[in-house]
Amino acid sequence: MAARPKTAQKTSSKTAAIKIAEIQPAKGKLGVMIPGMGAVATTFVAGVEAVRKRLASPFGSLTQMGTIRLGKRTDGRSPKVKEFLPLAALDDLVFTGWDPFDDDMYTAARKAGVLERELLDQVKPFLSSIKPRPAVFDRNYVKKLDGHHVKKGKNKMELAEQLRADIQDFKKNSGAARLITIWCGSTEIFLQPTGAHQSLKAFEKAMQTNDEAIAPSMIYAYASLMEGVPFANGAPNLTVDLPVMHELSRKNEAPICGKDFKTGQTLMKTILAPGFKARLLGLNGWFSTNILGNRDGEVLDDPGSFKTKEESKLSVLEHILQPDLYPDLYGKMSHVVRINYYPPRGDNKEGWDNIDIFGWLGYPMQIKVDFLCRDSILAAPIVLDLILFLDLAKRTSELNGIGIQEWLSFYFKSPMTAPGLYPEHDLFIQLMKLKNTLRHLKGEELITHLGLEYYD
Ligand SMILES: NC(=O)c1ccc[n+]([C@@H]2O[C@H](COP(=O)([O-])OP(=O)(O)OC[C@H]3O[C@@H](n4cnc5c(N)ncnc54)[C@H](O)[C@@H]3O)[C@@H](O)[C@H]2O)c1
Repeated sequence: MAARPKTAQKTSSKTAAIKIAEIQPAKGKLGVMIPGMGAVATTFVAGVEAVRKRLASPFGSLTQMGTIRLGKRTDGRSPKVKEFLPLAALDDLVFTGWDPFDDDMYTAARKAGVLERELLDQVKPFLSSIKPRPAVFDRNYVKKLDGHHVKKGKNKMELAEQLRADIQDFKKNSGAARLITIWCGSTEIFLQPTGAHQSLKAFEKAMQTNDEAIAPSMIYAYASLMEGVPFANGAPNLTVDLPVMHELSRKNEAPICGKDFKTGQTLMKTILAPGFKARLLGLNGWFSTNILGNRDGEVLDDPGSFKTKEESKLSVLEHILQPDLYPDLYGKMSHVVRINYYPPRGDNKEGWDNIDIFGWLGYPMQIKVDFLCRDSILAAPIVLDLILFLDLAKRTSELNGIGIQEWLSFYFKSPMTAPGLYPEHDLFIQLMKLKNTLRHLKGEELITHLGLEYYD
C-alpha cells in the first residue's frame, strides 16, 4: 500500500493552516508512450511539434490555454493553469509507441488524413523519426484489423515482459526522466471482469495460461504499472478499470484514469443534458446517430467493438439525468446510439441528435443537433492535457498513491471511479472538480460560487 500523503503547511491570515501538497518539479524530459499510433496519436504528436515550432496554436487544451480563478472575484487573480502548477513543458516531450502496422508517424498521419499535407510536411523529419515498436496484438480482440508488426511469445506474460523491456529501452535511449502511457489503440471487443482480474496473483497466473479474459490493452497496462508508469485509457475497453490495475496503481504509485475520450457527440450530450435537468425540462427520447469513415469507424463496424463503445456512450444520460430521482421527467426516456461506417467521410464525422423534450404542462418540443466535427481534432488536446496532468499526479504526494484520478473525469465518456461510486458526467461539475483539485493542491481556497460575502 502506498505511503500516506506528505503535506507541507502554509498559514494565512484567514485560515489557521492550509495544507499544500508536495509537488516535485517537472525536471528533465517526459517520455510519452502511445499504444496505437493511428489518427488520434498522430494528430496529437504532429500538433505538439507544430505548436513547438510556432506553426499553430493548441486550441482546446486547458493546460496550454486555460486560466484558473483564485480567491475572490474582486481579487483579479486568474493565472494560466500552466503557470499556476509545475507542468511539463511541451519542449520536454519525447515520444514512442506501438502499432501492429509498421508505418512511421508521418506515413500514419498521411493515411489518417486528418491534418493537411502542408502542415504535415513542415514537421515531416520529426514525425518520420517516430517508428512504432511491434505491438502486442491479437485479432480476436479487434476483428477488423490484421496487422503483422506484432510481438511473439509463448504466453501473455512473455509479451508483457517484452513490453517492459521496450519501456526500459525507451527510457534509457530517450533520456526521459519520467514516463506516461496513453492508450490510443483501437476499441477492443466487449469484455466483462472475471476472476482473472481480481488480484495481481490471479492476473499473472491468467497471463501465463493465456486466459482469453486478458486483452492486449490490459497487457500494456500491466507492463506500464509494473514499471511505475501512469496509464490513461482513451478507449472504452476495461484496460485499467479492473481491481488488479487499481491495486497495482496504488502499490507502484502510478496514477491511472479512463475511459474513452469525451469528444464529439458525447461532449455535446454532457453540455446539453445538464441544462435540461437544471431547468427541469423532461426528456422523452434522445436518438443519436453518427457516420464516420476512419479506421476507428471501421473497427466499430464490428459488433463486438461497437458493444464496448455503445455501453460507454449510453451510460452518460442515465447518470446526468438521474431518472430514479426524477421519474416524471426522465423515467421513460428512450436513448438510442448508432454508429455507421461510411468511408467517404474519413475522420470528419457527422453526428446527428434528435432530442424529444417536454416542458410546462407536458407540451413536447424537439431539438436537432447536427455536429460536423473532426474526431481527432477534438481528441488531440485531451491527450495532451491528460499526459501533463497524469505526470503532475505522479509528482504530487497527495495524488500518486491513490490510484484512480477521478478529478480527470472531465476528459472521459465513461469516467473511472472508486468501486461503488457513481461517475460524475456533467461537464461543468467535472470542470469544477478538476479546478478545485488544482486549487486544493496549492492550498488555495476552493471556489463554491456561494458569493454571499460580497453582500456583507
Ligand atoms: N477520435 C476520437 O474522437 C475518439 C474519441 C473517443 C475515443 N477514441 C478512441 O481512441 C482510439 C483511437 O482512435 P483513432 O481514431 O486514432 O483510431 P485509429 O484506428 O486511427 O488508430 C488506432 C490504432 O491502434 C492500433 N492498434 C490496434 N490494436 C493495437 C494494439 N493491440 N497495440 C497497439 N496498437 C494497436 C491500430 O492499428 C491503429 O493504428 C479508439 O479506440 C477510439 O475509439 C477516439
